[in-house]
Amino acid sequence: MKSKNQLLIIASLVVLFTVSVGFSTMTQGKWVAPASADKLENPLKGDEAATSKGKKIYKQMCAICHGMKGKGDGMAGSALKPKPANFTKAEIQEDSDGAIFWKITEGRGNMVSYKETLSETQRWQLVNFIRTFK
Ligand code: HEC
Repeated sequence: MKSKNQLLIIASLVVLFTVSVGFSTMTQGKWVAPASADKLENPLKGDEAATSKGKKIYKQMCAICHGMKGKGDGMAGSALKPKPANFTKAEIQEDSDGAIFWKITEGRGNMVSYKETLSETQRWQLVNFIRTFK
């Protein structure tokens, strides 16, 4: 009898787990980069020429969703769920440079991966520019 009850408990835990995982992918909560991303060094940190190159790329490729001022209010972003990130928010700026780089590289949902379209250098230039919204 005891083992039957245990089995029941395990079975309900499995169901609960599956439901909560399903739910979290559906609602797409806070996007967290893996810890390994925090270890990536920004080779362009403090490089102002790189930051202005990042600005150019941002205007061409990112502002349409993230907005000219980084507030996540770009024209093409308004209908998206979740909304494009607002780079002026502390919770975004708290990310390490490596984590931001990783997110640009990997993408998620409507935020596509820029691994193929932008070089590593260009992605770091963007990280530098995103910091200016702080
Ligand atoms: C088609 C609209 C769109 C474009 C274009 C776009 N993004 Fe995004 N971006 C999003 C959306 C939507 C999210 C939120 C994704 C999520 O949380 O699942 C996001 C999230 C992000 C994040 C993660 C913020 C965080 O910590 O949660 C970064 C960084 C980012 N975008 C950078 C960029 C950069 C740099 C570019 C240009 C190369 C760019 N994005 C272009 C829609 C876009």
